[in-house]
Amino acid sequence: MARVRLRVPAPRPAFATGAVATASITPIDLPQAPHAAAARVDTPPLSRREKGRGSEGMPPAPTPAPHTAAREGRSVPAHARIVAEVLAARHFRHLSPDLVTRVTAVEAPKAPRHADAVDRVKRRLHQVANAYVPALHAPRDAIDAIRAAAGDADALRVLAVSLMHGHASTAERLPTLDLVGPALRRVIGTGVDLPPRRVVDLACGLNPLLLPWLGLPRDCTYEAYDVDARLVGIVDAFLQAWGQSGSASVRDVVGDPVGGTADLVLLMKAVPCLDQVRAGSARTVLSGIHARRVIVTWPIQSLGGTAKGMRATYRRACDALVADLPYVVAEVAIPGELAFVLDRAPGAGPDA
Ligand SMILES: C[S@@+](CC[C@H](N)C(=O)[O-])C[C@H]1O[C@@H](n2cnc3c(N)ncnc32)[C@H](O)[C@@H]1O
Repeated sequence: MARVRLRVPAPRPAFATGAVATASITPIDLPQAPHAAAARVDTPPLSRREKGRGSEGMPPAPTPAPHTAAREGRSVPAHARIVAEVLAARHFRHLSPDLVTRVTAVEAPKAPRHADAVDRVKRRLHQVANAYVPALHAPRDAIDAIRAAAGDADALRVLAVSLMHGHASTAERLPTLDLVGPALRRVIGTGVDLPPRRVVDLACGLNPLLLPWLGLPRDCTYEAYDVDARLVGIVDAFLQAWGQSGSASVRDVVGDPVGGTADLVLLMKAVPCLDQVRAGSARTVLSGIHARRVIVTWPIQSLGGTAKGMRATYRRACDALVADLPYVVAEVAIPGELAFVLDRAPGAGPDA
């Protein structure tokens, strides 16, 4: 097996472990679940005023006069200034400008002053994207390593495992990768007469790095979309190195939904995230594409007692997501996730 040398300084978590040394899944420092991570990691720089807001035990920040925004004359040019300031910030410059613009349109009118508006937008962007990648370091080194391993399936598997630590959603799958891979394989294959020709992975994170475990034909076109350009760079390099047809693109799939007809759409652990800015967005996204099969999942960290409530909540969320859409829904077993397969209803046809 070819060895891949990473130009990453030793103990940094995302790419240092395992990538060079071993093909097995080594003990790891898993990031907390995204929802927990959102409160814990990679917190963007916020003003002292915004930090105080909403903190338990802290006096509430003074409520600004409601007419301040109007006095500042905030309007479209003011929103453009917020977008520019956010995109210039180190923690946010990798995000889709479309997403930043959309979040600004929703969040900025709620804040009286420019600085508050910028803080609000950053906070929301952290929740929908940055919170998932507390351990994503040196993405350029990752891309170099992937390219160096191109065509070497064993080396790419090892790299994929190492890199998947860098995103909370894929990191959660690693301890049970031996089970998740076959489970996904079964779900992708079950009941489908033909292997998928077009797979669309919406809000993909580093999910496409599971490709070595999915058994998809290399000529199946795999399209992956995320708002984080660093993830997209890694995923695109991986698709090429693995020899998979397709590509990864930076895209706000809510503001700019992916259309057409797909054999398989993956909407994994992404519904709460897409609905963060505006409720119902994930449903709009799903309605925009004509899929033969959709795999939609929600994260469940624990299968013990506390997960029961989450399961019930997410089952209701799935019902709401699919209501009136032409799909037949079945719950399927994927370790650590509450998963549903949506199959296009018989007679619904590709354009129903
Ligand atoms: C919970 S993670 C799930 C990642 C992946 N699907 C998985 O299961 O491993 C959600 C991902 O959605 C991305 N995201 C959030 N809002 C998005 C949007 N509007 N369009 C595209 N991607 C988005 C985030 O950057 C993040 O990587």
